[in-house]
Formats: sequence, structure tokens, C-alpha cells
Amino acid sequence: MTFCEYKPGLEGIPATQSSISYVDGQKGILEYRGINIDELAKSSNFLETSYLLIWGGLPTKDELAEFEHEIRYHRRLKYRIRDMMKCFPESGHPMDALQACAAALGLFYSRRALDDPAYIRAAVVRLLAKIPTMVAAFQLMRKGNDPVQPRDDLDYSANFLYMLNEQEPDELAAHIFDVCLTLHAEHTINASTFSAMVTASTLTDPYAVIASAVGTLAGPLHGGANEEVITMLEEIGSVENVRPYLDGCLQRKAKIMGFGHRVYKVKDPRAIILQNLAEQLFEKFGRDDYYDIAVELETAVEERLGHKGIYPNVDFYSGLVYRKLGIPTDLFTPVFAIARVSGWLAHWKEQLAENRIFRPTQIYTGARNASYVPIEQRQSTHDRALLASLIAE
Ligand code: CMC
Repeated sequence: MTFCEYKPGLEGIPATQSSISYVDGQKGILEYRGINIDELAKSSNFLETSYLLIWGGLPTKDELAEFEHEIRYHRRLKYRIRDMMKCFPESGHPMDALQACAAALGLFYSRRALDDPAYIRAAVVRLLAKIPTMVAAFQLMRKGNDPVQPRDDLDYSANFLYMLNEQEPDELAAHIFDVCLTLHAEHTINASTFSAMVTASTLTDPYAVIASAVGTLAGPLHGGANEEVITMLEEIGSVENVRPYLDGCLQRKAKIMGFGHRVYKVKDPRAIILQNLAEQLFEKFGRDDYYDIAVELETAVEERLGHKGIYPNVDFYSGLVYRKLGIPTDLFTPVFAIARVSGWLAHWKEQLAENRIFRPTQIYTGARNASYVPIEQRQSTHDRALLASLIAE
């Protein structure tokens, strides 16, 4: 093998070939299976887009109707999963609850037949159908309430908002939520998708694949950033405080949440659409005070960091949309997961079609030929006071 340069974070290193989505980070273009995200946001819906991503082409009317019907039929959770959730601490993060529930599906559907198209179809349907029910159920249960059963007469997005708020959502709100899911459904080989692919490449079951992706999405540098954006806007508190706050962050070399992207060096095309959706919601339901702070922050960050290609990413405006839809802040990332399940499943299928286990190499930087020191002769390498305080915590 020839020498290759080590790139932290694998920046710029192709780890796979894929025909699922395409990003041009300089021009701000995102396409799913060649179709521009603007067009999908305008004309498609989340389930049709999921079909496109997972099965590789837009469905016919009958194919879509069948897919929607299957998903509707599989929305309910086994009571044992609900009972398991009842034991989760209400202070636990909903992403941790979701990861545990996604993994638990593997206990109930343990047959693994990765070369059987019917098995693949059933796993796709189950995961798309049940993940929203899990998110809504945990939200109600942590407040001490019984979960609300899904309603077969409601579409995918309207049903989720219904299960979450125990009331039928406004039509515009349900539509906008569905567009948000479409926008978040897929994004090439990001951290959680890569994690899904690595897990998939071991030929484990699809529930383990999705559980590992959920765990990866949760981090603040990835999907967790949408929650952090709201915390940041709260901390800024006023338009006047935007620039002093930004100065403080830059001095401390702290990252501004919701800005920057490994691939986009311009404003993320999804952020443009999300900002527009937020404005539509404000027109109907009233403005959010944080919006003016967000717009001012975008201007200030562009002035200070635009030369480095730091612009709003997908997570910057999504939280403002979700807030207006009445979604609690710590459910923002689980909502991202509801959408991204379709991208993860598309990559799972693509990985299986031409699988080779991921097993990269490393550059070893440790000692060689070290001797084994008998325990009586060892010197502690730890700060003992620090260790004692950590144990006491
Ligand atoms: N605020 C301030 N400076 C930034 C930011 C930011 N948000 N993002 C990047 N930079 C600077 C960084 O300090 C560095 O400057 P320099 O070259 O002078 O040291 C340069 O830009 C490159 O940054 P990096 O951290 O090496 O870039 P990366 O490609 O490794 O990281 C990122 C990408 C998204 C993790 C990063 O931009 C970041 O931490 N952003 C904030 C968290 C966030 O919003 N995450 C959501 C990502 S998009 C959707 C998703 O994945 O969920």
C-alpha cells in the first residue's frame, strides 16, 4: 500500500461511493438522487422523499400509497417497549431514550435475513413507522402521562404532532413540520451516517445500525447543535448583546452553534428554506423574540467569519421553527433523528448491496517493546488528589 497522509476527521477522504445524495459546498447545492432539495421541499413530502432515498426512484401513485399504508399499520409500539420506557428516568435525555428503544427493536424482530428483500422492506417500514411513536411516547411518559396511540386517519407528520401534543395540529404547522423532515432526511456521509455504515458493514441487524447512528447524531457538533442554538440565543438574550457575546466567543475560541460546516462554505441551502418556514409560521402564529437575535447574529458572524466560509448551517433556524410548533427544546435532536432515519436506511441498503467491512488503518504513536513492570515497583501516573475527587463525585 502507498503512503497516504493522515487527515484528522478524515477531511476530504472519500470513504465510500454513493448515489444517494450530492452536495456542492461552494455553490450551496443539495440534491437527493439528483433532485434539488428546493424542489423536493416545494413539491414532495417526507414519505415520498424517503421512498426516493431508500428505493432509488420516485414512487408511482400505487407504490406510494402502499408504502404509506404499510407505515401507518406499523406505527404502534409493543407494550413491552412502552413498559421499558416507563423505567427510564424522566430527567434522561430523549436521545438516549430513543437510542435504547431503537436498539430494543432488535430483541423483538431478531430474525436476521439481510439477503431477503421482504426482511429489508419490513425493517425499513418498522423503523420509519415506530421512531416517531417512540419520541412522542417518551415525551408524554416523562410527564407522567400515558402515551397517545397513533391515529390511522392522520398523515405521517400530522400524526406525530398529534401524538406529541394530544391534539390535532394546524394544517400549516403539520405541512411545515413535514417539510422540515424532508430537509433533514439525508446529507451524504455525515458523522451519524458514517457510523450507520460502519455498523452496517459488520452485517449486524438494522436496529443496531440505527441505534448507533442515533447515538452519533446526539453530539453537539452534529445533530445536537439545534438544541444548543436555542440555549445560545437564550444566553444572548437581546439584540444589543449579540456583538459582545460574539466577541466573547471569538476571544475564547468557542464555536458559535449552528454555524460552520465541513462541506458548505456558503449558507446551507436548508437554512435558507428553514428561515423562510420560520417566517411563514411567525406570520400566522406571531413572531418569536429570538428571531431578531438570530438574524443579527447571522449578520455579525458573516462580518467576522464570512471570510472563513462560516455561515448558518441546517441547525441554526430549525430550532426556531420547532419552538413555534410547540416542540420542547430537548426533542429537537430526536426530531432530526425521525427524519434522518430515511437517509440512514438508504445508506444501510446501499452498503449491503456491495459490502466490505470498514476496517481502516492507523498510525501508531505509542511505545514499542515496553517491559512489564511488577505491580510493587510501579509509580502512579495519575494525580491522586484529582482521582479521589473524581471518585467522590
Ligand atoms: N464558530 C466559530 N468558528 C468556527 C465555527 C463556528 N461555529 N465553525 C468553524 N469555525 C472555525 C474554526 O475555529 C476554524 O478556524 P481556524 O482555522 O482559524 O482554526 C475553522 O473555522 C475550521 O473549523 P473546524 O472546526 O476545523 O471545522 P470542521 O469542519 O472540523 O467542523 C463543524 C465543522 C460543523 C463541526 C464546526 O463548524 C462546528 O463545530 N460548528 C458548530 C456546531 C454545529 O453547528 N454543528 C452542526 C453541524 S451541521 C449539521 C449537523 O451535522 O448536524
